[in-house]
Amino acid sequence: MTHAPERAVARIDLGAIERNCARLRSRLKGRTELCAVVKADGYGHGAVWAARAALAGGATWLAVATAAEAEDLRRHGVSERLLVMGALTREDQRTAREARADMVAWTPEVKGERLHVKLDTGMGRLGTKDFDAAVRLAQSDSVVGLMTHFATADEPGDDLFARQLERFREFVAAVGRDDVLVHAANSAATLRDPAAHFDMVRCGIAIYGMDPFGDDPARSDLEPALSLTSYVAAVKRFQPGESAGYGRRWRASEPTWIAAVPIGYGDGWRRALTNNCDVLIGGRRHPLAGTVSMDNVTVDLGSDTGVTVGDEVVLIGRQGGDRILAEEVARRLGTINYEVACALTPRVRRLHVR
Ligand SMILES: Cc1ncc(COP(=O)(O)O)c(C=O)c1O
Repeated sequence: MTHAPERAVARIDLGAIERNCARLRSRLKGRTELCAVVKADGYGHGAVWAARAALAGGATWLAVATAAEAEDLRRHGVSERLLVMGALTREDQRTAREARADMVAWTPEVKGERLHVKLDTGMGRLGTKDFDAAVRLAQSDSVVGLMTHFATADEPGDDLFARQLERFREFVAAVGRDDVLVHAANSAATLRDPAAHFDMVRCGIAIYGMDPFGDDPARSDLEPALSLTSYVAAVKRFQPGESAGYGRRWRASEPTWIAAVPIGYGDGWRRALTNNCDVLIGGRRHPLAGTVSMDNVTVDLGSDTGVTVGDEVVLIGRQGGDRILAEEVARRLGTINYEVACALTPRVRRLHVR
């Protein structure tokens, strides 16, 4: 692929987001709705772009974590139903109301015309654990939804998931209303168990084509939407004993070529990837050599002298016959794909393509 060299670009394939949503929709019963979770700037993909692509792919709801995120979507003309899932101060509630967003409530202190009562069935985070109080709260006319959130949906074989599901079913039955929207599933639960779908599923990671189980997204028929590229800014010959980067954490053991690539932890390419990940250049895998600095990394090209200044460097994505998934980078870091995508800073240009 020809390309103009650019220091750090996240290319977002909006068609992939659209297709991922369409595939998720096709797993749902006819009347079950898909809510696309676009918090944290659409998991680093650009919230407004991601929202529009998700809606084109069949999502009918959007969810964010904060009132400011809801306000931002409205400012950009997004008019669909919108749920703010996070905790809200009184000021946040006013912002959310002005944005005509639904809010999650687990105490009577949340005031709004469209509330979703959240029972904490085992996540142990937001929501009330008080079953009876939640049932009482849910009788209000302003309540339009009932929800919970799973703690271990991404850990097949655990037993908490089934217990949470059962507890939530009891809650829905005790409330006894058929005019409310019932929802529980995140991406993992959506893929794992149709019994968790209810009236709506709230999918984040899967709509971006990342695997909630940390595996290959293709296994769940998902396409990664994000690729991350930079370029070769310099190629230099190194002799045995010479080092690259701060602290001399890599030294040449034999004559080799080193490429300097202008992307670093200031872009979200984490310092813990020092001597600990591969990139693709000229269609081949090469390891990082030396400390990740704020603005640059160095790559050991070995004897691959075909590499020249200006060549594209793929940090996440495909090149030639190989690919690097966000899941691979996450494994190297001992974290999850969510964090790899969210870590990309605003300095990385987002290029939205179809
Ligand atoms: C309450 C709630 N529902 C749904 C989601 C979407 O989760 P996922 O990205 O795993 O699909 C999140 C995200 O963490 C969440 O906090």
